[in-house]
Amino acid sequence: MPYADTLPKQRGFGETTRPDVWWLQPLVVFLGFFAFIVYSTWAAFQGVQDIKTGNCSYWFGGNGANYLSPFYSPEFWGTSPHAIFGAILPAWWPAWAPFSPAFLILWIPAGFRFTCYYYRGAYYKAFWADPINCAVGEPRKTFLGERSFPLIIQNVHRYFFYLAFLFIILLSHDAWKGMWFTDLTGAKHFGIGVGTIVLTLNAVFLALYTFGCHSLRHLIGGFLDSKSKAPTCAKSYNCVSCLNRKHMMWAWISLFWVGFADVYVRLCATGHLHDYSWHF
Ligand code: FES
Repeated sequence: MPYADTLPKQRGFGETTRPDVWWLQPLVVFLGFFAFIVYSTWAAFQGVQDIKTGNCSYWFGGNGANYLSPFYSPEFWGTSPHAIFGAILPAWWPAWAPFSPAFLILWIPAGFRFTCYYYRGAYYKAFWADPINCAVGEPRKTFLGERSFPLIIQNVHRYFFYLAFLFIILLSHDAWKGMWFTDLTGAKHFGIGVGTIVLTLNAVFLALYTFGCHSLRHLIGGFLDSKSKAPTCAKSYNCVSCLNRKHMMWAWISLFWVGFADVYVRLCATGHLHDYSWHF
């Protein structure tokens, strides 16, 4: 009998012999990503209104605090005291286009996550159903893979990693600034507020996600044929590998927490939440 006759028939979309609830994982991923995309887009557009009115819903300075939402850091032009170039809009920004400080920077963390090896596997299943899950029939017969256009563009991930690394430094600096409270005389005192803890954990979780990156793993030692000849690289490689084993967990924790940090600062800034703090 020819081999072709013995091959299993291609399954139709969604057909499977799997007895488990295989659709639950892509559904949860879809809902999680969808909720985050909707919220972060809404939060980024709040800056448009702030620029028009001169208000600032992404920075909290009450009780001498100094909390900046991570969705708006670094802030180049904007209405908070963190704005590097002040509130005057750049001349090159088209007059007809709405402007929010978040528009200038959010493409970097978004691009980093969009091209992340873990997220690719997750959203190919959840959003494109390609494949929808292992051993489940796909909706299309051809798959060009990541060696052809357009998915070959995913290879820019390593460059997004360099930018994401810079963001870890900037967000750590924001957490540090969140530890200094200004009193009525203008003097600064070290202190810890709930917002300080939220911003510090945000930098920590994002670092644990970023430093478990597959691209970093290659850069730091994975490129070597024999790691025993480069003990420092071998140690660094092992550290990154350790984080890499939990990459999915840190991806989700950091995604949730960065959204939560924006919510916290926003609720304080708009007077819906009181920030408890202790000054020393
Ligand atoms: S592989 Fe996930 S951040 Fe690089």
